[in-house]
Amino acid sequence: MKNIKAIIFDAYGTLFDVNSAAEKCKDKIGDKWEPFANFWRTTQLEYTWLRSLMGRHKNFWQITEDSLDKSIKAFKLDPSMRDELLNLYKVLSPFKEVRETLETLKERKFKLSILSNGTPSLLNELVKSNNLENLFDDIFSIEEVKIYKPNSKVYDIPINKYKIKKNEIAFLSANTWDVSGGGNYGFNSIWVNRNNNIFDNLDYLPKYEIKDLHKLLDLI
Ligand code: LAC
Repeated sequence: MKNIKAIIFDAYGTLFDVNSAAEKCKDKIGDKWEPFANFWRTTQLEYTWLRSLMGRHKNFWQITEDSLDKSIKAFKLDPSMRDELLNLYKVLSPFKEVRETLETLKERKFKLSILSNGTPSLLNELVKSNNLENLFDDIFSIEEVKIYKPNSKVYDIPINKYKIKKNEIAFLSANTWDVSGGGNYGFNSIWVNRNNNIFDNLDYLPKYEIKDLHKLLDLI
C-alpha cells in the first residue's frame, strides 16, 4: 500500500456508531435496545438497495425516518420516541479511536475524505457535532448521483474529483458489502471488523482486515 494518495472512509458504522442513538435510550427501550437498533439499521439499508433497484430514490434522511417508523411498530415502542431517536441519529458518536487516527493520518499528509449514503447536510452536521470537520478534505455524498452504494457510480465520485487511479485509494468500511463494492470497483478495500463478523461472498476478499481504525496506521 505504498502508492496510496487518498484514504476514504464510509461514515455510518465505520466512523460513527449507528447503534449509539438507541443505546442512549436504553433506559426507555429496555433490553431489546440492541435488536431494535440492528433491525432499524438492516431495514434502513434494505430500503437503500430496494429503492436503487426500483429507481425510486429518496434521500438517506427520509429512508432513516421510514425505516424507523417500521422498526418502532415492529418492536412496539412508544411512538413518542421517534423524535428523540431521530435527533440522536443526527449526532451519532464516533468510535473511540476515530479522532486520533484521523489526526495522525492528516499529519502524514494523506488526503482524507468520507464517501457515504448520507445527505450532505446530515454528514456535515454529524462531523461538526463531533468536532471532526477540520480533518476531512472532502465529504462525498451519494446525493451527487442519487443512487446508493454499492452502485459503481458512487465509487466514481472521488475518482472524478481527485483524478487519481482507483488503486491509489484506500477505502475503509465496516460494512462487508461496502468493502466488496469498493473492492470490486478497484479500490484497496479494507474491512474494519470490530465485532468478529463473517465476510460476504461477493467476489472480493478484503485487502486487509483490521479490528479498528487505529490498526490502519500500521498498514499505511
Ligand atoms: C454509509 C453507509 C453504508 O455511510 O454506512 O454510506
